[in-house]
Amino acid sequence: MKEIENAIVACESLGELDKIRVSLFGKKGHFAAQFEALKKLEGDAKKEFAQTLNVTKEKFLDLLNEKKSALEAIMIESEMKKSSVDVTLFNQESSAGALHPVMDTMDKIIEYFVSMNFSIEEGPLVEDDFHNFEALNLPKYHPARDMQDTFYFKDSMLLRTHTSPVQIRTMLKQSAPIRMICPGAVFRRDFDITHTPMFHQVEGLVVDKAGKVSFAHLKFILEDFLKYMFGDVKVRFRPSFFPFTEPSAEADISCIFCKGEGCRVCSHTGWLEVLGCGVVDPNVFKAVGYKDVSGYAFGLGVERFAMLLHQIPDLRSLFEGDLRLLEQFK
Ligand code: DAH
Repeated sequence: MKEIENAIVACESLGELDKIRVSLFGKKGHFAAQFEALKKLEGDAKKEFAQTLNVTKEKFLDLLNEKKSALEAIMIESEMKKSSVDVTLFNQESSAGALHPVMDTMDKIIEYFVSMNFSIEEGPLVEDDFHNFEALNLPKYHPARDMQDTFYFKDSMLLRTHTSPVQIRTMLKQSAPIRMICPGAVFRRDFDITHTPMFHQVEGLVVDKAGKVSFAHLKFILEDFLKYMFGDVKVRFRPSFFPFTEPSAEADISCIFCKGEGCRVCSHTGWLEVLGCGVVDPNVFKAVGYKDVSGYAFGLGVERFAMLLHQIPDLRSLFEGDLRLLEQFK
């Protein structure tokens, strides 16, 4: 029996252990034979033999169970090792991206106007002459067309030079009241430190029954908006000209760099021009068949806002894809 005991201790697999178990406790095993032999004994001899037999039986049952648990634990461990992942293997630095400053600025602008109950409208980038110019009170050969250096395709198609055509599309699609903004890309043949051929604008349009919308409403919302964007700034409206608005104005904020004292960025005027706006020209309403309405509109360049907010000196650097610029906005 000592040999079997050693075999159990030395056993290295569950299969081997089961063989030993069968040889001890199987129908034709050691203990079955011993209990057969027991039957033939009588009296004290039988009693004594039964006792030792039960003790050895218990002992071997315990030994087998103990070994089984130990082997199972080893097996589970080795299975887990096989399927485990070495988390230290790829510990390269992972780099999270960040929103492009132009899109970040766009989001902030949209956030304001959505909170003021403006809807968001969209239009195509490739436009026709009617939506981009004609319906906006910019007839052919009008000198104001020169303000926008246009990329033309064949058949009077063009890349939209501003987001204003979306005003026209929205008014043709639905009736007043309208309270919309249109964020999107626009294109002009222009390239220098403050211009890129593609940039982004946000257009705004509010139309309601005649007399319900005035320049005063426009002033209120734009002042509030500019303070939301730039913090504690002064806002002023300067008379200007746009074909689609009458009267027209440009809004300035007090220079955020010198607090209005006068510096290089504001050309020593103390003011920064930030957007165009005005009361919608009746000719625009005529072009879309609107009657007895009044409205105001505004348009702004998102890159200009981003440049001012983040103090980016050269607009072109926003589109060069240089990670060193983008990493600053994480
Ligand atoms: N469309 C003008 C531009 O691209 C911006 C603009 C000015 C839009 C005044 C307007 C507005 O709606 O009222 O320069």
